[in-house]
Amino acid sequence: MGIVGAGPAGLLLGHLLHLNGIDSVVVENHSREHVIDRVRAGVLEQGTVDLLRAMGVGAGLQRTGLRHEGLYVSFQGLRHRIDLADLTAGKAITVYGQNEVVRDLIESRTATARPLYFEADHVAVSALDSSTPVLRFQHSGTDHEVHCDFVAGCDGFRGICRPSIPDGVLTVYERVYPFGWIGILADAAPTSDELIYTYHDRGFALFSMRSPKVTRLYVQVPPEEPIENWSDEGIWNEILARMTTRDGWQPNVGHIIQKAVVPLRSFVAAPMRYGRLFLAGDAAHIVPPTGAKGLNLAASDVLVLARALKAFYERGRTEWLAEYSDVCLRRVWKAQRFSWWMTSTLHRFPDATPFDYQRQIADLDYLTSSRAAMTSLAEQYVGLPMEVSYESAGLHV
Ligand code: APR
Ligand code: PHB
Repeated sequence: MGIVGAGPAGLLLGHLLHLNGIDSVVVENHSREHVIDRVRAGVLEQGTVDLLRAMGVGAGLQRTGLRHEGLYVSFQGLRHRIDLADLTAGKAITVYGQNEVVRDLIESRTATARPLYFEADHVAVSALDSSTPVLRFQHSGTDHEVHCDFVAGCDGFRGICRPSIPDGVLTVYERVYPFGWIGILADAAPTSDELIYTYHDRGFALFSMRSPKVTRLYVQVPPEEPIENWSDEGIWNEILARMTTRDGWQPNVGHIIQKAVVPLRSFVAAPMRYGRLFLAGDAAHIVPPTGAKGLNLAASDVLVLARALKAFYERGRTEWLAEYSDVCLRRVWKAQRFSWWMTSTLHRFPDATPFDYQRQIADLDYLTSSRAAMTSLAEQYVGLPMEVSYESAGLHV
């Protein structure tokens, strides 16, 4: 199996295949340090946590992951708690940086001694509609040519795998939002144990964390806003203006360790397969980060793919490979809908009318006062069921 990309999708797939005795080569064009240090989102669904633990890569998660059984939605100066665990029979989310997940998976991969190439150049895939697709790359000046049974395109939104599919095969569904986020990591002890999603007249803001000493915060800004336009003081002023509640709650202010602009986009390319190339994770779909679904969708995709590959190698079955895209897309579209809804409900849209504004407030009022509405949010936030279970698939994890 050729795997392009050592993000969560590629590394998780590589490890699932390893546990099931299937060989793979993972090829990544960035350095190990870059892949680990990249600051990304950090919310793991219950099913993703269960999968990582079952695969034996849950030690770091166990040590420093923060289990959250609830979250807050804040608007008009009031915070409303949604009790995720109570509404979902005990499920929760875990806050654990994606870069930590990637670090743990790289360590596990390295321990298996299976091939993982960083800083690969000229990565290319070809002969995708033949029975032996080819993965080519250059590493430390040496040309490599791997003749694979299958290739997994786990190379993210800007990778080379999706563009290697001939024109006319894929249908692309896309929505670009008229805003982005600035995300910061701050040297400041979190003042809430749980995440706070805030809707404010000045725009969306989100309070999260990485550790008992580091707060993670996001604020809605105009699209493609240059980060240079934002001084640290300007960012804090905006955060405090949006997040301070009537009871005086506000985040602690501290030194900003890292800041960056995050774009918001919804995107699906279908089908997620062409010949013997299978797309997984961000290579096939992007969600706006409001629902925190990106990494979790990558995990559910590769579980479906690993099940199908195992059935192929052990029993010669091809049905699950044929169904891969349809099975993944069912869950992907539900997460797309949820992420779009969270985004639409919590952001200020530049063209919104007073009617839209009142409707949004009513939406939030309903959400935070109806047990049915809170249950709907909770079951999606902790994660809808994975389309396949590893037990029933006979997958060793
Ligand atoms: N050759 C090899 N590797 C590549 C290439 C290429 N031409 N292009 C991109 N890559 C690598 C990237 O450097 C990255 O490490 O593929 C990897 C893709 O990883 P991610 O972008 O993290 O995507 P994925 O593994 O699908 O994980 C989805 O990541 O983008 C976040 O929020 C998203 O949480 C979600 C998760
Ligand atoms: C994060 O902690 O980075 C985070 C949390 C929730 C989101 C997005 C990002 O919806």
